Amino acid sequence: MHLLVIGALWRIRKVKDMSITILGIESSCDDTSSAVIRDGVLLSNVIAGQAVHEAYGGVVPELASRAHQQNIVPVVSEAIKRAGIDKSEIDAIAFTRGPGLMGSLLVGTSFAKGLASALDIPMVDVNHLQAHVLAHFIEQPGAEYNPPRFPFLCLLVSGGNSQIIKVSSYNKMEVIGQTIDDAAGEAFDKCAKVMGLPYPGGPVIDRLAQEGNPKAFTFSKPHIPDLDYSFSGLKTSFLYLLRDRLKEDADFIEKNKCDLCASLQATIVAILMDKLNKAVLQTGIKEVAVAGGVSANSAVRAAFEQYAQKYGWRIHLPRLSFTTDNAAMVAITGYYKYQDKDFCDMSKAPFARVEL
Ligand code: KG4
Repeated sequence: MHLLVIGALWRIRKVKDMSITILGIESSCDDTSSAVIRDGVLLSNVIAGQAVHEAYGGVVPELASRAHQQNIVPVVSEAIKRAGIDKSEIDAIAFTRGPGLMGSLLVGTSFAKGLASALDIPMVDVNHLQAHVLAHFIEQPGAEYNPPRFPFLCLLVSGGNSQIIKVSSYNKMEVIGQTIDDAAGEAFDKCAKVMGLPYPGGPVIDRLAQEGNPKAFTFSKPHIPDLDYSFSGLKTSFLYLLRDRLKEDADFIEKNKCDLCASLQATIVAILMDKLNKAVLQTGIKEVAVAGGVSANSAVRAAFEQYAQKYGWRIHLPRLSFTTDNAAMVAITGYYKYQDKDFCDMSKAPFARVEL
């Protein structure tokens, strides 16, 4: 009996010793975020947005970097507090190295280096794009966990990227299609701006589109070969329609706002899904996920459901809290890289432009 108890205690200790706790830090654009993940399970995820950019209709890099400096200490402390852990229990710090705004990335990277050095623990540098994809592997206590099976395709659509990625494992990803100009999120934001809507325009267009007719207006669709995307033509087509109609009626935008939003959104979603379907047919992979800020869009989500029913796709839609920038996705990526002992040293500098 005595031996059994000792054996059980030893096993508990062994399991505890083997558990991995990662602190994630994200500061690539205008969200300062920190999260704690233990053994793949999310313990906390704190995000501080930056309202300062609203007045400018877009992110102002210098203001973003200053706001990160103000936010980083309270955000990281809060993440550790909400996780209910002590700093000494953190095994490694994962931080976003890029892509993103250089001034913003520098704040997160420098802070990660300082804290890792003070705690004498390793650092893991994380590619922001890989993190968006791996957000599908974040486990939450009490929530259903049904992650994609490898290999799968992931449509990564955000303010800076529109890519189709073939994901073979946690650390093996291949971009098989991408935008040759603007990203889908950029198309949402820029078209919103010309209609006088606030930044970021994507969620506003999504909301207004609920009340509009998606067939009210027709916009040009790109003819780009292979699996690549283009959104600059659509943006111009949208701009020209407004220019022409405003000549006839100065209130054109106000009178047709919901129809304009619904038609624009339907065109963006059709462009995205058309190429994604082509990728499914080319690769034969029917396990399909979506990630990034635009994956919060209700029409994108509805289209995924339709394709799942029509073509037998097995789809994965991220929880809304993991669609836009957050440190939980950075921490989960750090967790998998930690298991591969894929650490970085103090000389690692941030990269504004870095590919998968
Ligand atoms: O992933 P994210 O937070 O930042 C980048 O890494 O770019 O994505 C931000 C983008 C913005 O362009 C925003 O307008 C768009 O995601 N977005 C949406 C929605 N929510 C966010 N676009 C369309 N519909 C939405 N509901």
